[in-house]
Amino acid sequence: MTLLDVTDLRVSFPTEDGLVRAVQGISFTLDPGQTLGIVGESGSGKSVCTQTIMGLTRGAQISGTAMFEGRDLLTMGDNDLRKIRGAEIGMIFQDPLSSLHPQYKVGWQIVEMIQAHEDISTKAATKRAVDLLRLVGIPQPDRRVDDYPHQFSGGMRQRAMIAMSLALNPKLLIADEPTTALDVTVQAQIIDLIERLQAEFNTAVIMITHDLGVVADIADDVMVMYAGKPVEFADRRTLYYRPHHPYTKGLIESIPSAEGERGRLKPIQGQPPSLIRLPSGCSFHPRCPYVMDQCVTEIPPLRQVAGSADHRSACWLPVDEVGIGGEVDRKREQVALARRGTLAAESSDVIDSVDVPDGSAADVPADVGADTTTRGRTQPLASTATRAVRARTGQPAPPARPQRRGATATEAVTAAPVKKAAPKTSAKKAVAKKTVASKTAGTTAKKTTPRRTNSSQNGSTS
Ligand SMILES: Nc1ncnc2c1ncn2[C@@H]1O[C@H](COP(=O)(O)OP(=O)(O)OP(=O)(O)O)[C@@H](O)[C@H]1O
Ligand code: SF4
Ligand SMILES: [Mg+2]
Repeated sequence: MTLLDVTDLRVSFPTEDGLVRAVQGISFTLDPGQTLGIVGESGSGKSVCTQTIMGLTRGAQISGTAMFEGRDLLTMGDNDLRKIRGAEIGMIFQDPLSSLHPQYKVGWQIVEMIQAHEDISTKAATKRAVDLLRLVGIPQPDRRVDDYPHQFSGGMRQRAMIAMSLALNPKLLIADEPTTALDVTVQAQIIDLIERLQAEFNTAVIMITHDLGVVADIADDVMVMYAGKPVEFADRRTLYYRPHHPYTKGLIESIPSAEGERGRLKPIQGQPPSLIRLPSGCSFHPRCPYVMDQCVTEIPPLRQVAGSADHRSACWLPVDEVGIGGEVDRKREQVALARRGTLAAESSDVIDSVDVPDGSAADVPADVGADTTTRGRTQPLASTATRAVRARTGQPAPPARPQRRGATATEAVTAAPVKKAAPKTSAKKAVAKKTVASKTAGTTAKKTTPRRTNSSQNGSTS
């Protein structure tokens, strides 16, 4: 049964400069245990989308529906929403420091969260807080539970946020860039942690990130957002190996090599548009190397394209041209050239400059260019390091840059599968079982019956 069904979600903010159209027409569904990755550049509306679902965008103009187990979160009263937040839907915020109160002990904040939703003694709630901190890998949790947030490192604060978001065993976990600003070792650990907890409790996850490497690791389906709109939707394998939208293609081509080679990346040229004054037609057209006249005048709808049964893209290029590299790119270019008139030629800054000119900001090795403005957060640079960590730890790398230049789409599809390797999964389950066993000691929690009610746990801890 569908857990979350979002239909035509639109969110705008009235400001002095005009109406900021932050989210324009997002629809998706999520089943229990499923992971949806939402990717896009900074300012594309990823956080506003999920914050609105959680009732956290006051003052915004909102339309659409967000049905959670049959109830519309967008029209729900504050009291009902408060009950759902934390208990049914957990959220890991982008910035853990702003989410943890600096003047209260970490453990106390977890206890308060639990007690806000459950009739449970402070002693029992504290014990559960300690168990949760242990579960997320905080060393000496019975001592660190009394620390203040500033006594935690960035990675520990992020783990504490995860502990808090899992405290009531939510059915849905929204993780908004949970690994941003963490060092790469910690990033990989946090992703692994979320993944194994999800496997254990069948939690649905929405993973917001600008890092396609993270999405490759964890997502079942991926929604790519650009300027407030979904521009491509597909299962992760299709998205990586057979993308349709030039923006998705650009994101993938800007992933640093999985092998750590220092070849040139192909960054997306230009900057995202203002959400107050969007370009006409396709919002991506000023940056698109394939721009055609139609792109300047008509907004492309999200439509079914080749690749897989549920592969949709909002682009005027032929629906059967999916993939990256060689032949597919050539066909795209031919189509674009044939349909390109003066409108497209005048509107685009990047037409005919697909190759990155020497000496430009883009013409630098991945690690050197990590903080350059033009790359911004379009560039999933963390993924290089994350993959390096995985390589060191013997974990399989995500399918970054499967579409090496010159490879055909068919070659790419038959390349290494995206699925996680069995040994990794088994190891994760073993660890998860161990940690969960300590969390639910004395209870009869089973993998197939996630802790949807906490009564047994309460009983064991009080
Ligand atoms: N309260 C608000 N008032 C006006 N504009 C807002 C408000 N909140 C968000 N926005 C704007 O909405 C747009 C989308 O913001 P959002 O935070 O969703 O981006 P994002 O995709 O999460 O980016 P990032 O990757 O940087 O977190 C941005 O242009 C932002 O400035
Ligand atoms: S080809 Fe046209 S419709 Fe497709 S992304 Fe480029 S500008 Fe947009
Ligand atoms: Mg955000």
